[in-house]
Amino acid sequence: MQSNISNSSVGKVELIIKKRVITLMKDFPEIIEKAASALKASNRVVAFCGSGFSEESGISTFRDPGGLWDIVDPWEVGTLQGFINTIKTKNNQLLQVFRNIIDSFEKSEPNPGHLALYDLESMDKLQAVITQNIDNLHQEAGNSTVIEVHGNLFRMKCLGCGNQIKVDRKQFIEKTRKELNKLTDFDFTVLMNLAEKCRVCGNFMRPDVVMFGEAVQYLDEAYDAAIKADLLLILGTSGVVYPAADIPIQASRSGAKIIEINPTENAFVNITDIYIPMKSGVALPSIVELLN
Ligand code: APR
Repeated sequence: MQSNISNSSVGKVELIIKKRVITLMKDFPEIIEKAASALKASNRVVAFCGSGFSEESGISTFRDPGGLWDIVDPWEVGTLQGFINTIKTKNNQLLQVFRNIIDSFEKSEPNPGHLALYDLESMDKLQAVITQNIDNLHQEAGNSTVIEVHGNLFRMKCLGCGNQIKVDRKQFIEKTRKELNKLTDFDFTVLMNLAEKCRVCGNFMRPDVVMFGEAVQYLDEAYDAAIKADLLLILGTSGVVYPAADIPIQASRSGAKIIEINPTENAFVNITDIYIPMKSGVALPSIVELLN
């Protein structure tokens, strides 16, 4: 599958990668070379991604200082009922949060980290991307096997018959922004007007994302890919949300070598063979560059 990025953007990104590789090699040559050697020796690589992997695309993480859960209470807006209640009570505050999220999703593009994962798939090394992210950026970078355990914001699911449809990210965002800009207060009826209608049964459709307390998606597929991996890349996740955070642990128990790229150390450090304290959009392209 070809990446969906225009040639000029790829050229720009390659320039960024080249510049970063040059600066980077002065700082972390050994860890990068160690990781590249491990990748060279592996053919069943799987990536496990969190919101930090999309941070360099301009999308906020959840638990970093200033992250989404610093702004709104996850237990207020993370469950479907809590989200509806919050709209009814704190709607103008939520309106601004929504506008900020829509803005960040609109401007976001796959970053050098996403493109590096596409390169690894093109080299027949990467078998799958398991992601907790809902932003569709792995697919837009060109990866074909993307296991989205927390769903996808741009896939709608019918509340009645379960029918699913994909919506174009840019069109969905333009439509949502247009409706939000008409609002002074965020009220529930508008939200329902925003909702797509199911062509099969006529019922309302909602974004197919996993809210707190709802069943995680494609977990069997994720575990299956992880335990078959000979190397697992843990990229940009705090590893605090289960059952997703159990996936790298099972990969390690099944014998996979673990490489983690994250500026902040976390619980995974106990299972990690190579820990790279850097941004994934800088480190991963530098590692993949050494494979070329
Ligand atoms: N490169 C790599 N890692 C980064 C970067 C970056 N550029 N920027 C931030 N990080 C790291 C942070 O250090 C942190 O460890 O990414 C991690 C982000 O952690 P969280 O905000 O907790 O996000 P995530 O791990 O994806 O959360 C898991 O929690 O609320 C739920 O559904 C939500 O899917 C999400 C889940």
